[in-house]
Parts: sequence; C-alpha cells; structure tokens
Amino acid sequence: MNLIDVDGLNVHYGDLQVLWDLSLEVRDDDSVVTIVGPNGAGKTTLLKTLSGILTPTSGRVEVLGADVTSIAASDIVDRGFVHVSEERNLFGDLSVEANLRMGSYTKRETFEENRDMVFEMFPVLEDRRDKNASTLSGGEQQMLAIGRGLMAEPEVLALDEPSNALAPQLAEQVFRTIEEISDDVTVVLVEQHVDKALGLADRGYLLENGRIETEGTGRELLESEAVREGYLRG
Ligand SMILES: Nc1ncnc2c1ncn2[C@@H]1O[C@H](COP(=O)(O)OP(=O)(O)OP(=O)(O)O)[C@@H](O)[C@H]1O
Ligand SMILES: [Mg+2]
Repeated sequence: MNLIDVDGLNVHYGDLQVLWDLSLEVRDDDSVVTIVGPNGAGKTTLLKTLSGILTPTSGRVEVLGADVTSIAASDIVDRGFVHVSEERNLFGDLSVEANLRMGSYTKRETFEENRDMVFEMFPVLEDRRDKNASTLSGGEQQMLAIGRGLMAEPEVLALDEPSNALAPQLAEQVFRTIEEISDDVTVVLVEQHVDKALGLADRGYLLENGRIETEGTGRELLESEAVREGYLRG
C-alpha cells in the first residue's frame, strides 16, 4: 500500500477550480517526493487537501490508509501525516521549547526524547530554547517549524516551501536537513527551488496551473524539457 494515493482529484475555491484531475502517489520506499511548480500552481492547495483542511470537489485522497474526506484533520496528524505550512504558524510569544511542546500534543510521553533529537539536529534551537519564537531569525524560525513537525513523530512530513525567504546559505542548510530527516521519515517537499528539490528527491511532480505536467524520478525531471526550459535557465 502507498503512503499517499491521490486519484482524479479536483479542488475548487468557490467557482474557481484550482486542481484538475490530479493523480499522484507517495510510495512506501520513497524518501523524498517533491512537488515543484511556479507561484499559484496549486501546491499549497494540494498539501491542504492532503491534510484534510480543504475538501475536494471530487477524487480519491488516501493518506496513510485513510480516506481524508472521512476523518478529522487532527486524526490525519494522529495517523502520522504532519504538514509544516508555508506560514510556519509559530507561537511568537512562546519560547522555542514551548513551541516544540505544542508540536508534541499527540506524543506527550516522548516529549523530552524528541525535543533532544530536535536540539541535536538544530543546535541553534537549543541555544535559544528559552527565547520567544518571534526573536528568531527567518532561518531559525523555519528550523523551529520543522522541529515542531518532527515532535509529532510523523511517518510522512510535508514541507511547504521550507526554503522560502531564506538567504542562499540558510536554504542550503534547510535542504541538508531535509536529506537527514529523510533517512527516517518520508518527506513530501513542495518547492519553487526546482533544481534543489529535484536533486534530492527520489521522484517528483511538476505542477502547472493545477495540473501535473510531468512526473518521474528526480533525475528524469531535471533532464526533462519542461523543467529545463521553464525552470533551469542560466
Ligand atoms: N483561499 C483561497 N481562495 C480563493 N483562491 C485561492 C485561495 N487560496 C489560493 N487560491 C488560488 O488558488 C491558486 C493556487 O494557489 P496555491 O496557494 O495553492 O498555489 P501555490 O502553488 O502554493 O503558490 P505559491 O508558490 O505562491 O505558494 C491560485 O490561483 C490562488 O490565487
Ligand atoms: Mg504555496
């Protein structure tokens, strides 16, 4: 069974159709699957549908064995699908550690263990553990958002443009972290940094105007005409 199975998905906002007959899968043995595409392609809409935040107009959406339209969004987290949103949604006036605690509400008994694992992955968060999240830099906030996602012990971690608005060096660091995380957790990576994302993905999908344009292994997509012409100039 696949970790994620989407078949014939259509999603609207009111009268506006944003996803069109979209099918994709995340397999059991995938480490990183990426969904790349330009602004407004529908990437975030897709993740929100997988998380049960948006209800599709039609189509089948199965995440970790459950039909997402028939269970609550919180049950999807319980089953092991965690979505780190574009906005990061940190609690700015709570400490770093308190933010991590918010991420562990489904896994309270292993809070300390998971927190220490996150601190090991992101030592800067340990240095700042008592500081309010709002005082962190953009890169540190992204690390905290990812760390908080890991606190729920996900089987699949979905990241919505984790490198967005980060200086190149910090973006590099985030991509290295994703590689590290993907040793244990399957990562669904949504990105506009097409080359970086495809470089570390087993498989990828190019989403344009709400439709899958091309799919294949990371390498196949990097070498495809659609990606090379549209996204890899220079
Ligand atoms: N709440 C909403 N109501 C109406 N239209 C929306 C809403 N959210 C997104 N859209 C529209 O749906 C389309 C897809 O948006 P979406 O945010 O999924 O794209 P995206 O690929 O994540 O883009 P970005 O790279 O900018 O984050 C866009 O045309 C957008 O304007
Ligand atoms: Mg988006």
